Amino acid sequence: MAKTKVKTTFFCQNCGAQYDKWVGKCTACNEWNTISEEVISKPSPNDVKATFNTNRTNKPQQLDNVKLSEIPRIKLPGTELNRVLGGGLVPGSLILFGGDPGIGKSTLMLQMSLRLKGHKILYVTGEESEQQTKMRADRIGNKNPDCFILTETSTQNIFHHIKELQPEILVIDSIQTLHTTNIDSSPGSISQVRECTSELMRYAKETNTPVFLIGHITKDGHIAGPKILEHMVDVVLQFEGDRNHIYRLLRSIKNRSGSTNELGIYEMHGAGLREVDNPSEILISNKDEQLSGTAIGATMEGNRPLLIEIQALVSSAAYGTPQRSTTGFDGKRLNMLLAVLEKRCGFRLATKDVFLNIAGGLKVNDPSIDLAVISAILSSSEDIYIGSNICFSAEVGLSGEIRPISRIDQRIMEAEKLGFDKIFISKYNKKGMAEINHKIEIVFVSKVEEVFRHLFG
Ligand code: TYD
Ligand code: MG
Repeated sequence: MAKTKVKTTFFCQNCGAQYDKWVGKCTACNEWNTISEEVISKPSPNDVKATFNTNRTNKPQQLDNVKLSEIPRIKLPGTELNRVLGGGLVPGSLILFGGDPGIGKSTLMLQMSLRLKGHKILYVTGEESEQQTKMRADRIGNKNPDCFILTETSTQNIFHHIKELQPEILVIDSIQTLHTTNIDSSPGSISQVRECTSELMRYAKETNTPVFLIGHITKDGHIAGPKILEHMVDVVLQFEGDRNHIYRLLRSIKNRSGSTNELGIYEMHGAGLREVDNPSEILISNKDEQLSGTAIGATMEGNRPLLIEIQALVSSAAYGTPQRSTTGFDGKRLNMLLAVLEKRCGFRLATKDVFLNIAGGLKVNDPSIDLAVISAILSSSEDIYIGSNICFSAEVGLSGEIRPISRIDQRIMEAEKLGFDKIFISKYNKKGMAEINHKIEIVFVSKVEEVFRHLFG
């Protein structure tokens, strides 16, 4: 490769901004000490660009005249991944798939590769050897003659193999391990990641092949390296979950060909990831004992109604300052709800420790679980069991009023489907509701006190 003299540039390792000289603070993202020098040199003219057909000439044309040809999406195995992608995989799309280390990114991608039938798929790994991948594949336990595996980190070599194999789908595990000879800096550096991604993007667009890129995540939860990666790709998926719990959530953060509201739920098992078709059922523990301190709330995750169990424990504070501790729920919001209970219902909670937990390791930001949180706290404080056939879905305001929430019909329907007998919702939701004869009893309430009277008489 003909190289000009060594050229270096400075990149912000946080946001990918480029500088001619070293500076202490990145003016783009305001982070300190994130600028580092990387060697780059000009790509030679006969680089990868020439491998694909680039002499297509596009002329400007009126948008009205652009014909929409229905591009058939590739249906992936299972329902969750398809739904999160917006109804299947769009040919030629570039998908960035991020998540914490060990969360199951490689497992999900390999599982998809092994279960997809009728499409030739190439799984390129720079992280693990063929043996390691084979062992993982054996654990997952599917066989697929259309699934090919390649251990390689150089994009030029990868493109060479692609030319021979002509895969219909490409998976790269991970983008941070790749390097291209067009740039001299080390793999994982901003300029390498950026250049490799743009080479893969050109490949995806010009050959209409969908490409999955697995990406690492930094400790503050961003896809490692440049934010610009997220701008370049068509879809950004994120795999989240608590490693100590078995549930994993697949979210789309960006999707150029679908909604970003969709959510996929998986369970990690000894033999790979299993899709959870009915998440509400598993998030509610069906126990026979009648224990106080739990209440079920109907929330929404994206477009999906979800019933979750809220557990509260209220006990006398052993030390002067009472403890307030939450898992999966905003601590400040808990304090606010406790203040409402104190002021409106006269509960003396100021001297009590309050612990709150959302079962299943989920994190919920939806205010519609407020009423369930309050009910769980009251149930624990009074040591009275709330029937397991009752659920709640409403926001609680500062003056103790029960506020209406969106998409109430969907939530009621889900509660009904799961066999609940009674749901508490805001009186003000009545107006906008569809006129359906529900089997479930709907209790309209307007104040926290009313709920308390209903529950505990
Ligand atoms: P992995 O896909 O390697 O994570 P990532 O690629 O995101 O870093 O997943 C690793 C974890 O998943 C590992 O701790 C073991 C667990 N695992 C299972 O529990 N069951 C399985 O069948 C497989 C393959 C992995
Ligand atoms: Mg991995």
